[in-house]
Amino acid sequence: MAGQSDVVILGIFVADLAFYAPRMPVIGETIAGSNFVLGPGGKGGNQAVAAARAGATTGFITRLGADNFGELGLKTWAAEGITAHVDQVETDPTGAAFIFVNDVTGENSVIVVPGAAGGIDAAMVDGYAPQISAAKVFVTQLEQPAAAAQRGLEIARAGGVITLFNPAPAEDVSDEMFALCDYITPNETEAEALTGVKVETVEDARRAGDVLLAKGVGTALITLGETGALFHNRDVSEVIAAAKVDKVVDTTGAGDAFNGCFAAALARGDAPLAAARFASIGAGISVTRAGTAPAMASLAEINVKM
Ligand code: RIB
Repeated sequence: MAGQSDVVILGIFVADLAFYAPRMPVIGETIAGSNFVLGPGGKGGNQAVAAARAGATTGFITRLGADNFGELGLKTWAAEGITAHVDQVETDPTGAAFIFVNDVTGENSVIVVPGAAGGIDAAMVDGYAPQISAAKVFVTQLEQPAAAAQRGLEIARAGGVITLFNPAPAEDVSDEMFALCDYITPNETEAEALTGVKVETVEDARRAGDVLLAKGVGTALITLGETGALFHNRDVSEVIAAAKVDKVVDTTGAGDAFNGCFAAALARGDAPLAAARFASIGAGISVTRAGTAPAMASLAEINVKM
């Protein structure tokens, strides 16, 4: 099939407007920031760039407005060699995200407005069933409606494609969706929202992982910030250490780097634990740079650190 990709990602693209400052202003206050970056974002869009830079042929399914931010998406995918499966509409604007980055710690807070991508629905996803079914790995998240994510997972599962579900941002997920996941990749907050288990330690993560396994997922890969990630299934429960980093500049999009790199490594046939180690290094590189999609690591950069 023309335009066939090994990794196919369904998600949103938005323009990220990142403001760097020592702290968040309180209501009614204006403070001076130290930097501003406007660039491509959205979890799905970031994951697509991460997967492509990590060496996978990558396709990205999304919905855009016919505007300047939409153009930014199209230019990004052309530059990164990503096959765009895009519904572009005149009726809705492309979305945007406000990102505060603490310019001392690199920690972030985000408000995301999906815009046109909020209109992705199951019928639209059905239109891209051939691309999803022909992939080796299918990835989605929860920034577009959950029903669309579920439809993508159903199509992938029916086609024998490896399914990777990044349940971000945290929201309720139907029982059917868990059973469609070969891999689920929540962070601590999302794992708590999905399982009711507060995740503060590796043992907490194991308990949350057990709940996710009982709900039908194949492997829970729970990201734990500076600790790394817990790879947890019925046979293995192992902590993948976070990559060592000299200076954290911006943690925004680190989870997306992890997911995109993990998908790329699975698609080329890496064993799952090796793929998770590769993903951890990709995420570690991404936090040393400002921005989200622009901060993703290349395959050569990851290989140097393997
Ligand atoms: O995961 C980071 C992303 O979340 C940002 O790029 C922002 O757009 C939000 O979607």
